[in-house]
Amino acid sequence: MKNILISLLGTTLDKGFKENRWERWRPSVAICQHEDLLIDEYHLLFPTKFLRLANRISKDINIVSPETKVILHQLDFKDAWDFEEVYTGLLDFLEHFDFHKEEDHYLFNITTGTHVAQICIYLLTESRRFPGDLIQTSPVKLNVAGSYSIIDLDLSKYDKIAARYARESKDDITFLKSGIETKNKKFNELIERIELVALRTKDPILLTGPTGAGKSRLARRIFELKKLKASVKGKFVEIECGTIRGDAAMSALFGHKKGAFTGAVSDRPGLLKTADKGIVFLDEIGELGLDEQVMLLRAIEEKKFFSVGADKESESDFQLICGTNRDLHQRVKVGLFREDLLARINLWTFKLPGLSDRPEDIEPNIEYELKRYAEKTGDVIRFNKEARSAFLNFAASTDAKWEANFRDLNGAIIRLCTLALGGRITIDILNEEIKRLKSLWDTDKFNHKDELKDKYGHIIDIEQYDLFDRIQLKEVLKICNKSKSLSDAGRKLFAVSRLEKASANDSDRLKKYLAKFNLTWDSVARMN
Ligand SMILES: Nc1ncnc2c1ncn2[C@@H]1O[C@H](COP(=O)(O)OP(=O)(O)OP(=O)(O)O)[C@@H](O)[C@H]1O
Ligand SMILES: [Mg+2]
Repeated sequence: MKNILISLLGTTLDKGFKENRWERWRPSVAICQHEDLLIDEYHLLFPTKFLRLANRISKDINIVSPETKVILHQLDFKDAWDFEEVYTGLLDFLEHFDFHKEEDHYLFNITTGTHVAQICIYLLTESRRFPGDLIQTSPVKLNVAGSYSIIDLDLSKYDKIAARYARESKDDITFLKSGIETKNKKFNELIERIELVALRTKDPILLTGPTGAGKSRLARRIFELKKLKASVKGKFVEIECGTIRGDAAMSALFGHKKGAFTGAVSDRPGLLKTADKGIVFLDEIGELGLDEQVMLLRAIEEKKFFSVGADKESESDFQLICGTNRDLHQRVKVGLFREDLLARINLWTFKLPGLSDRPEDIEPNIEYELKRYAEKTGDVIRFNKEARSAFLNFAASTDAKWEANFRDLNGAIIRLCTLALGGRITIDILNEEIKRLKSLWDTDKFNHKDELKDKYGHIIDIEQYDLFDRIQLKEVLKICNKSKSLSDAGRKLFAVSRLEKASANDSDRLKKYLAKFNLTWDSVARMN
């Protein structure tokens, strides 16, 4: 491989025509005075008015290194400190240069030239417009050759820098997890990926997962992390889409003009505008009305929207994070959610697991909750040994449904701590709490929208059915849930007609009923 060097003439440091010039370190000559570095081809760029010096240097190079072929190129800058001029001048030169990357090794000398030239050379190398390495030389006492070092700009090759990036990213991941040392591999990988994406993208992010899994909280953490890294300037604005409807929704999101409707007594900017250069978190995005969905899509794509009653468009450059515990594809199917909006927000989708899918994380989360309780109330509460292991056993067992996930865990710890006299949670207090949790999950069953899954494993959004069907279905499911088998449930549900022998087979009737909702006994029994 030949070493091919490009270098700018050092109009100050290279100066000298007298014999004593050999006693000084002259960067353009010295670079050819190293025994372990043979420059085969030397492209020396010089300003026209320094032609004489360039010729002198060229001859001197030939004296110290006869093997080196020097090629002179005239390159003039009106102002060697003008970034634009220097950058384009160098870029033009490189674009006309005949590089053979595979065969030769290219070096660009950053010792000579103005600081602006050095920055430009650096940028051109970093962006691979110059396909080689940088070389930096410096004087050394009693040695006219000085020293040199070759800088490879591929940062990933430097162990210390790579370790530093890895450490920073680890800190960010811990930040997203609120410092909780979670052990579940899948969850940790998910957060790692979220960290990577969140810091790089301004595109929409969709957080899915069951209620209480921490979607809203994660959205806020993402914002805080981005703020810390100065990648957002604006505010974090959050809205629960289920709480706004019709005109109120339009005006809450997009704002309104004074007098746009009765009650619009003054201008209102709207949440999207308030979140300019920041983040809008739309929780329960599935609940957003169809009209608002159309406006939102345009606001994401064009960053423009009309406030209610306005004749001029508002502009806002925000990042969107959405949360949902519903199956949005299912909502598209039944016409409640726009397919184009889903496609747009479905670019980065992260599904947060429920607590029961991460049993190994229950312990660190309990610790975290105890710490939070202590911070809030000043009371440091501990489990006694027996109670702790009993709680952990219960928490990771199939009895523990954690239907509202962290909300259930928060609630349990707060109750346990409040009842713990003398700062200790005893087995009695714990058993009482376990009973309370069990009955909570029993009575609450089917009130959670995300619980019901069809025979394909897709979450069924029960709200899509008429209230009439919903009431009946919920009761049927409750019975199924308390029954050992399909025929057991059938017997209970059709107890009266069974006695009258009016109908042939209870199991069959139940099976047919469930099938109307794409449900099977298995899919219902899975909920047990
Ligand atoms: N990793 C966590 N550790 C401890 N507590 C958490 C964690 N994540 C969330 N929480 C707490 O659990 C509660 C519910 O969290 P959050 O509101 O983020 O859930 P969500 O997924 O948005 O629920 P929903 O679907 O009902 O909106 C909050 O009080 C939150 O502070
Ligand atoms: Mg939420």
